[in-house]
Amino acid sequence: MPVEELEDRVILTDVNDSNTKLTILKFGATIISWHHQGEENLWLSKAAKLDGSKPVRGGIPLVFPVFGKQKDPNHPTAKLPQHGFARNNTWEFLGQISENPPTIQFGLGPEQLDEETRLKWPFDFTLILTVSISGDKLVQKIEVENTGSTPFEFNWLFHTYYHVEDITDVLVNNLVDVSCYDQLIAEQYTEKAPAISFHEEFDRIYQNVNPKRTIQIIDKGKVLYNLHRTNLQDSVVWNPWTKKAEGMGDFEPKLGFHNMVCVEPGHVSSMVLLPAKEKWSGQQEIVIGGEIKVQTNIYE
Ligand code: BG6
Repeated sequence: MPVEELEDRVILTDVNDSNTKLTILKFGATIISWHHQGEENLWLSKAAKLDGSKPVRGGIPLVFPVFGKQKDPNHPTAKLPQHGFARNNTWEFLGQISENPPTIQFGLGPEQLDEETRLKWPFDFTLILTVSISGDKLVQKIEVENTGSTPFEFNWLFHTYYHVEDITDVLVNNLVDVSCYDQLIAEQYTEKAPAISFHEEFDRIYQNVNPKRTIQIIDKGKVLYNLHRTNLQDSVVWNPWTKKAEGMGDFEPKLGFHNMVCVEPGHVSSMVLLPAKEKWSGQQEIVIGGEIKVQTNIYE
């Protein structure tokens, strides 16, 4: 059975391989597991709350309508919590829309939000998340529709926690010469590393990454994942390292930062302005394996 709906989650199984499947919590429409031929691709904290009491620490939480905390106190998203409300509300499971690859949808609208959130962000909207799995590929597409009569502004982000064996062996490539904002030192500069490596806390927003670039996550010379993006101009790269992990109550084990890296495509360095009655969409496609591909400005 490719689609199995349980009370709090949906399991989506590859039609050709029963050992390849996704588990998606209705809470936040969060993918909490991506089993591929029996191996887990996503990192999930052992202390992650899966009961809807807080956003899931791990998997792929969805960030909307604000990334981080809004810095402009007069912006309509200013009263919202860090990373908005999409990751901490229960989405409606809309069912299966195609057989092969098996594809399902989840929806979120004002009717799913509690009154407090509605008061904080009173716009009319519909979010439709489409998810499919086939062989080595996972695709997530988000559609944001402004169903109201006034424009609104938002950020979007797929906050993807990848599972890795050891972060110190990991490289993330094809971000060379991209302008980035380093959230740890609050500075803007151009990335010069041909491949990023990790040996301390890391929190950077790579901005306007050419859509032709495939961001690769490489472990000891082997490509783990290829990240293709559609209409998602930015990518956040994050690892909390020792101190930050210690400070997060739902981050376990504390040394678990060794086994994860977040590479998060989105639109966060500016806000998307969505006029009344219009739609916006963005997509991430993650493909396992393959060859190392070196892309720099010369080839773009
Ligand atoms: C990342 C941000 O996307 O999310 C970090 O760049 C942040 O600054 C991290 O710490 C985790 O956020 P949260 O709200 O899930 O603890």
